[in-house]
Amino acid sequence: MSKIKTKPLNDAKSIFVANVKGGVGKSTLSIMLARELAERMPPQNITVIDTDLQRTATEFLTNSNPEINVEFLPITPAFENTNISLVQQFIKQNEFRPGHVVIVDTPAGSSQRLWNLVAEGYAVLIPTTLSNADLLPTENFIRSIDKVKARYGKYHPHLIVCPNKIPFGQKDFSVMADRLNNHDVVIGPALRDLASVRHFYNGKAEKWENKSNSNAQSDFEQFGSFIEKYVLNGELDKIYNKNNTSKNVIPFGKTSN
Ligand SMILES: Nc1ncnc2c1ncn2[C@@H]1O[C@H](COP(=O)(O)OP(=O)(O)OP(=O)(O)O)[C@@H](O)[C@H]1O
Ligand SMILES: [Mg+2]
Repeated sequence: MSKIKTKPLNDAKSIFVANVKGGVGKSTLSIMLARELAERMPPQNITVIDTDLQRTATEFLTNSNPEINVEFLPITPAFENTNISLVQQFIKQNEFRPGHVVIVDTPAGSSQRLWNLVAEGYAVLIPTTLSNADLLPTENFIRSIDKVKARYGKYHPHLIVCPNKIPFGQKDFSVMADRLNNHDVVIGPALRDLASVRHFYNGKAEKWENKSNSNAQSDFEQFGSFIEKYVLNGELDKIYNKNNTSKNVIPFGKTSN
């Protein structure tokens, strides 16, 4: 296969957070990623598109980080066609805004139109737990996106599986690594099962700010650095170019720097 086209560093990038499975942490990850990136780049260059009717990301971010742009474009059966087109338009327009990042929080569920949209992104973050109840649908989801990529002969989006709600002290990720072995995915740094995140939406955003939650802070910080380096700064493109192979699993432990 010919070499992957590297996206220029400063080009705008769209990152979808998606999985067919509900409750795996898509909205939480979208919110925390936006907040982490806001520490690393001008927040006005970040837009979060909340496509979930539940408005989780919108509600949280407008309270906690009003400097980050938030667009609410619910993708529900009733609005699917219109709002998928709007998200598409937004992403296309954004391509001409160097240094901008769009994070799209998507709803659970399997709609081919949504998968086609997700496959237009630069990267897809796919949160999942290590439970088979989540890993099996996650694997199917990866296959669906891969099919769209194959149909159009595309290298992007990079698929990044994000192990979420990982029990404290868990070091063995072989269940996940084995299952994903034959897929063209990258495994991102693990996010632990954190009580402070579980109760995230119970209080106000400011309360979360003031609470001492160093575990959550360090996990999401590590995650933010990973995305900055591998996605925004083009490290994944470089890895793909160098290896020129479809096997692209970055092993655990090599992701932090
Ligand atoms: N790392 C974590 N540790 C503990 N709890 C978590 C973690 N990540 C997410 N959660 C909790 O899991 C629940 C579901 O998270 P979230 O709403 O982000 O998932 P989702 O994939 O967006 O769900 P939906 O499919 O309904 O949109 C929330 O209560 C959230 O607080
Ligand atoms: Mg959600």
